[in-house]
Amino acid sequence: MTNPLFRKKSIDAFANENKNGHLAKTLGPFDLMLLGVGAIVGTGIFILPGTVAAEHAGPGIVFSFIIAAIVCAFAALCYSEFASKIPVTGSAYTYAYVVYGEWIAWLIGWALILEYGLAVAAVSTGWSAYLNSLLVGFNIHIPQALSASYNADAGTYINLPAMLIIFLLSFLLTKGVKESTRLNTIMVFIKVGIILLFIIVGIFYVKPENWTPFLPFGTSGVLTGAALVFFAFLGFDAVSSAAEEVKIPQRNMPIGIIGSLVVCTILYVCVSLVLTGMVPFTQLNVDNPVSFAMQMVHLNWVSGFISLGAVVGMTTVILVMLYGCTRLLYAFSRDGLLPNVLSEVNEEHHTPIKNTWITATITAICAGVIPLYQLASLVNMGTLLAFAAVSLGILFLRKQKNIPKEGFNVPFFPIVPILSFILCVFLMTQLTRFTWITAIIWLVIGCIIYFIYGKKHSKLQQ
Ligand code: ALA
Repeated sequence: MTNPLFRKKSIDAFANENKNGHLAKTLGPFDLMLLGVGAIVGTGIFILPGTVAAEHAGPGIVFSFIIAAIVCAFAALCYSEFASKIPVTGSAYTYAYVVYGEWIAWLIGWALILEYGLAVAAVSTGWSAYLNSLLVGFNIHIPQALSASYNADAGTYINLPAMLIIFLLSFLLTKGVKESTRLNTIMVFIKVGIILLFIIVGIFYVKPENWTPFLPFGTSGVLTGAALVFFAFLGFDAVSSAAEEVKIPQRNMPIGIIGSLVVCTILYVCVSLVLTGMVPFTQLNVDNPVSFAMQMVHLNWVSGFISLGAVVGMTTVILVMLYGCTRLLYAFSRDGLLPNVLSEVNEEHHTPIKNTWITATITAICAGVIPLYQLASLVNMGTLLAFAAVSLGILFLRKQKNIPKEGFNVPFFPIVPILSFILCVFLMTQLTRFTWITAIIWLVIGCIIYFIYGKKHSKLQQ
């Protein structure tokens, strides 16, 4: 008999669970790319380039973005093979349940909770910074003490706007509102539109002397920068969770996932070049670098548009991540690994209300008190762990007999999955000791919960 820790769930079992919904297969490659860009573009481009350029990479941040994109591209190829062969929702958690077995799947899912949960908090913090910048344009000032996470020196104690947006979006989620494809399309056009506006206008204000020195902190700064701006690419895995609604997933999934990454990489590289060309990197250590750069050249109307677009655009990222987090908890609970209360569904709106409010409360507290950079580093750690596991998982997937052979295959097998694994681990090593310690504590808590609760209550046990 299989050791309970390694009991696996079959693809058919997942497919049967999801059969009731009978989701229509309507999404094509372009829809998937819109979905991807909607989930990806947010705080990572509107906020992080400021501090990362000022403190770690200088103008060389453009290399940080390229390195992070390469790591994501390798992982994306591996995600694409999984999404094409196991086209059910649940992302890395589902894949791991099929190839590694329950315990590892739980730990990967637990790391994903860190990704989604803290990403909600991190993006809300970014949202709050741009809201502040927008309101200042109208001469409205949020009291300093309530405008950012705890920092007694700066006179800030709690980030109230960040907490409020989480509660507001959670309320919408409990009412059954989820991001509709049409809403997403509008948001994507707004987001991409203001980024293009920034690039096209900003290019006329670039002073090439701001690019010297290009690598003020050397290669190590660029690598640390890569581990931080990696955050900007997160969300492409959200594309894989739409698998059941995709026409010809075997072909369209990889196009959607890789296509959205390519679009974002091009945008990010252009933004970081223009940003560091417009403003000396030493001055970029601000909460709203992209609109700040426009204020520096006295284009306040462009700055206002950017703040408005950023606030709107980041709202969808928060919604996607919040939705992802609640549904992951729902899946754990449905599989018996967490208590039933998390998969109780409200009769009227068919949404997991208690689950949503629990998630909202915890993420809002994190958003209120933890600074963005700590949140982003932890999110990256959780995600890189999941990516590393998915990459290695391809080696196990190929060994399984009942997996369809057709569909997307990672090229240059096994080199690409192994390289992807190594790159993810390498980026993890660039994160701080504090991040490592916190992540290890998180995983130990995960193990304790599994051995005390999940292992006994797992549906596979019964
Ligand atoms: N990639 C998302 C963002 O940058 C998480 O906001």
